[in-house]
Amino acid sequence: MTDTTRRTLLALAVAATPTLLAGAAGAQSAPSGSAPLPGAGRAAIITGSSRGIGAATARRLARDGYGVTVNFLTNRDLAAQVVRDIEAAGGRAIHHQADVADPAAVSALFDVNAEAFGGVDVVVSNAGIMNTDPFATMSEAAFDRMMATNVKGTFNVLREAARRVRDGGRIVTLGSTIVLQCPAACGPYAASKSAQEMFASALAKELAGRRISVNAVAPGAVDTDLLRGKGSPEQLQAAAAMTPYGRLGLPEDIAEVIASLCSSSGEWINGQVVFANGGLQ
Ligand SMILES: NC(=O)c1ccc[n+]([C@@H]2O[C@H](COP(=O)([O-])OP(=O)(O)OC[C@H]3O[C@@H](n4cnc5c(N)ncnc54)[C@H](OP(=O)(O)O)[C@@H]3O)[C@@H](O)[C@H]2O)c1
Repeated sequence: MTDTTRRTLLALAVAATPTLLAGAAGAQSAPSGSAPLPGAGRAAIITGSSRGIGAATARRLARDGYGVTVNFLTNRDLAAQVVRDIEAAGGRAIHHQADVADPAAVSALFDVNAEAFGGVDVVVSNAGIMNTDPFATMSEAAFDRMMATNVKGTFNVLREAARRVRDGGRIVTLGSTIVLQCPAACGPYAASKSAQEMFASALAKELAGRRISVNAVAPGAVDTDLLRGKGSPEQLQAAAAMTPYGRLGLPEDIAEVIASLCSSSGEWINGQVVFANGGLQ
């Protein structure tokens, strides 16, 4: 696919009005007289949603009416705060600890979501880590941990999603614009993000006939702990300067794209990689 085609897909996704997936009872309701919310009667699991892109996505989907399961690895307090924020805004959310690298923990995460919300309609496989050691110095343990989280972890989440997402649902996994350039010291991380594209492409075909779309969203440089943990202020400034907008992406920018894909208008975007990077090349 050409970059132009990718950008066209993204523009369509973002422009899509959130017209609505069929709803049922028990969800956050729209103001009286207005159309029901896209996520009314539906539920979403977002892995790695205590911080960063995942937390923004949890808040965004909750605003659309989804019951949201917030997942974290170690930062329970941050996850609890995301839940409190959602509830304060009138939404429904729970939080649950699970290491995505552990298939039993991922299965339990889906169980907990089902107990709270009756099933799952949207799964966002967002949990990820980035190690930028060069080949010569990256330890085997660091490599294994990144692959266990980013590749096996996503496999665990997508496998469970393939089994449990209800017909008409949405699955999104997080790739990265880094795959377009793959700078020095990013080989293993970029490889783990390339895997997301193949996962989305194959799973979209496997779920054919059930009106479930599966896509990878590939952010550029987004202002989160993951990025700030790796770049000096000067490097972050340089990354911002590389986008036509002259700024880093915000977690909310990516959450909007994910929410668009999850709307009924997003149905025709399926098996794609949506580059959400503000024009970063
Ligand atoms: N930021 C960027 O510039 C950028 C660009 C392209 C793609 N991405 C991708 O976007 C995704 C989110 O990135 P981010 O920048 O928002 O990261 P972040 O701010 O570092 O947040 C990472 C989240 O993942 C969770 N997590 C980490 N390992 C986990 C595991 N084994 N099991 C469950 N949860 C785990 C963390 O939980 P705790 O809080 O408990 O640790 C946290 O909620 C990642 O897949 C990343 O590769 C990011």
